[in-house]
This record gives sequence, C-alpha cells and structure tokens, in this order.
Amino acid sequence: MKTLKTQVAIIGAGPSGLLLGQLLHNAGIDTLILERQTPDYVLGRIRAGVLEQGMVELLRKAGAGQRMDAEGLIHNGFELSLDGRQVHIDLHALTGGKTVMIYGQTEVTRDLMAARQIAGATTLYGVENVVPHAMKTAEPFVTFEKDGESYRLDCDYIAGCDGFHGVARQSIPADSLKIFERVYPFGWLGILADTPPVHEELVYARHPRGFALCSMRSSTRTRYYLQVPTGETVEQWSDQRFWEELKSRLPAELAETLVTGPSIEKSIAPLRSFVVEPMQYGRLFLVGDAAHIVPPTGAKGLNLAASDVSTLFDILLKVYREDRLDLLEKYSQICLRRVWKAERFSWWMTSMLHRFDDHDGFSQRVAESELAYFVDSEAGRKTIAENYVGLPYEPIE
Ligand code: APR
Ligand code: PHB
Repeated sequence: MKTLKTQVAIIGAGPSGLLLGQLLHNAGIDTLILERQTPDYVLGRIRAGVLEQGMVELLRKAGAGQRMDAEGLIHNGFELSLDGRQVHIDLHALTGGKTVMIYGQTEVTRDLMAARQIAGATTLYGVENVVPHAMKTAEPFVTFEKDGESYRLDCDYIAGCDGFHGVARQSIPADSLKIFERVYPFGWLGILADTPPVHEELVYARHPRGFALCSMRSSTRTRYYLQVPTGETVEQWSDQRFWEELKSRLPAELAETLVTGPSIEKSIAPLRSFVVEPMQYGRLFLVGDAAHIVPPTGAKGLNLAASDVSTLFDILLKVYREDRLDLLEKYSQICLRRVWKAERFSWWMTSMLHRFDDHDGFSQRVAESELAYFVDSEAGRKTIAENYVGLPYEPIE
C-alpha cells in the first residue's frame, strides 16, 4: 500500500469540495481531493443556478469569481404567478439592496476546477472504495484505490464533501447520528434549452395543474421545470408535451411569448428535505449535500453548501493559525442553525407553491390563504425576500 500525506483530506470534487479546497490552498493549507467520477461526469450534471450574495463573495474570496462576475446575471427580483395572479418580489427594495446572481453550478464547478489546476493542487479523479478511518483520533486517515493500486492518505482532518449518496456520512456509526427527513410525493422534471428566457426574471408558478418554474442560465439558455408525480419517467415526456404543459401552467401573456426549442438535457429529480445531526464525528466534517438536502423551490441547496464551507474554512484557519482547537466541536452547531432556517424556508416555498393531491379542501384553502397573506403584506414579502437572498453567515468568534 502506498502512503500519501496531506493536512485536509477532502472526499468529493463537487462545489463543496472544490470551494473548500481552493480556500484552504490559498491560505497555505495543504489539501488532497478524492473524487469517484471523472471531471466530465461531474460537469455533466445539471444542477442549481441561483447564487446568494454570500456565495458570490466566497467565490471571489477563493479567487474563482472572475468569469461569474463577467458572465453571471444579477437579478433584483423574481416573479410569483399564483393561480394566474402575478406578484413581483422586489428583492433589492425589500432587503435594502441585496440581489442574487444567476450563474449555473456547472460553471461554478468548471471555474473552481480550473483555479485548482492553476494553483497546482491535486484532485485524484476515478478513485474507488474511499473509506475514512480513525476519525475519533488525532491521526485520521483515508484509504482508497486508484488504477488497481491501494493507497493510505494520512491527514489532520477529513472533509466529507461527497454529496447525499457519499461514503462520509455512511461511515459514521448510525447510533451517533439523528436523521430528519421528509419525502414529497412529486419530483421536478427539468429541461435545458438554447432559447431566450420567457421573462427577464425567474417565474415561480403555482397552478391547479401543478408547480412550474421558469429559470435561465444566460440570455440565450433556459432551464424550465414542471412538478410531476413520483414515478414518472423522462421517456413519458417528449419535448412537445413538456412545452405544452409548461404553457398551460403559465399566465397567458407569458405562455404566448414562450420560445420553445429542442431540449439539450432532460431529467427528473425527486424532492426531499433531509438533515443529519450532528454534522461531524470526531475529525470528520460533513459539508453540503452530505449533511443536508432541501427541495429546490427556495434555491438553497448549493448556497447551503457554500455556507458550510465558509464555516469549516474559518474554523480550520483559526485552528492552524491560532491553535484554536476548541472551535472544532462548534462546526455542527454553527452550521445547523443556518441549515434549519433554510430547510424551513425551502419546505415552506415547496408547500405553498406545489399541488398536493392528498390535501383536503380545507388544507388547500389554508395554504392559498397563507400565501395570499404573505404576498399582500409588505412584512410578508420582506420575509420571503430576506430568506431568498440568503440569511447572513454566522461569524466565527
Ligand atoms: N468517493 C469519492 N467521491 C464521491 C463519493 C465517494 N464514495 N461519493 C460521492 N462522491 C462525489 C460525487 O461524485 C460528487 O462529485 O462527491 C461529489 C459530491 O458533489 P455534490 O453531490 O455536487 O455535492 P456538494 O459538493 O455538496 O454540492 C452541493 O448543492 O445545489 C445542490 O445538490 C446540489 O450538487 C449540489 C449541492
Ligand atoms: C435553476 O435554475 O436550476 C433553479 C432556479 C431556482 C430554483 C431552483 C432551480 O429555485
């Protein structure tokens, strides 16, 4: 077995692992990233597209914000279409000047990969059987295989940035973790198309036929979603069926101007809320999707990954520079306070905007009335806006 050594071993080269790696590397802390897939596979996944200001600033801090600043679209608000009635949520005005950045997760990942390559830091792709060990000791290590060779990676800390299906969370004894979960009875069918956006801002539509979302990646590339029942497959959805259904859920003036075209990607994602507590086990820290999942309705998944990264980075910096080992045990509690607020908002947006077939008439009216109460009041719109642009990151003492 070959032995390698680093300061922070990072499992997973998604946005969490790459962003943490870049911040640590720039601070002079050595990292090695272990990724199961190939770079092309990682870049082939179409995921989120809305960045909170906190994440935008973190990407700049990591030195990976140039292309985002040049090509990303700053959005001052979004549109709600509620059973035909349109409500504008003016993020900028309601939050005292905050906005969001439209820039795809694929591009964030591409930029972070490039920055890591320029920095000369190592990511090992195509590794197999990654297993963290001795997390409760001061000398943890990770074993893995690559090209038929076995390796042992000695380190100070392990960051589990390996997503919901990763090995990090699963390597923690089950009786040391508490899981909180809700699975929704529907998914989102998404398509990507090289067509101009139907509206200059994102449109979240509540409709008796189900939820729809009009999003975008640029002024020439769109991302649209439809709520579909669990169990439905992409084969059941031709492009034509998708566009017809989307039009039926949008206000007439948008449906009329919607430009359709061939899809370049089509996929269905289930909707789930999930949190594991605590987000750490000894010297293993869970970051991003490895620790929590939100339904996409609040655009919070990627942004929560970024706030976890920020917290872990700030703590590790103080550990290495100021010997503040006492901060290590605070990681989970600091992250979870923000995570749960985003879980609540994502659950709420999902509950308000989707069609629930198992809801009786009373529940339906209460949901409609709750949403009407929020959008008809300045205080309610402010609440939606301040959550959507992102709650503040908690500073590390
Ligand atoms: N060994 C090595 N790598 C692994 C393993 C493993 N056992 N299991 C998973 N991985 C890799 C995956 O291939 C993936 O590239 O870990 C990476 C995890 O990346 P993501 O799933 O993208 O998770 P994360 O980086 O936390 O990103 C946050 O926010 O918008 C949401 O779900 C969206 O992906 C997004 C997430
Ligand atoms: C996306 O563009 O993929 C997107 C945007 C907003 C959301 C979810 C997904 O709430």
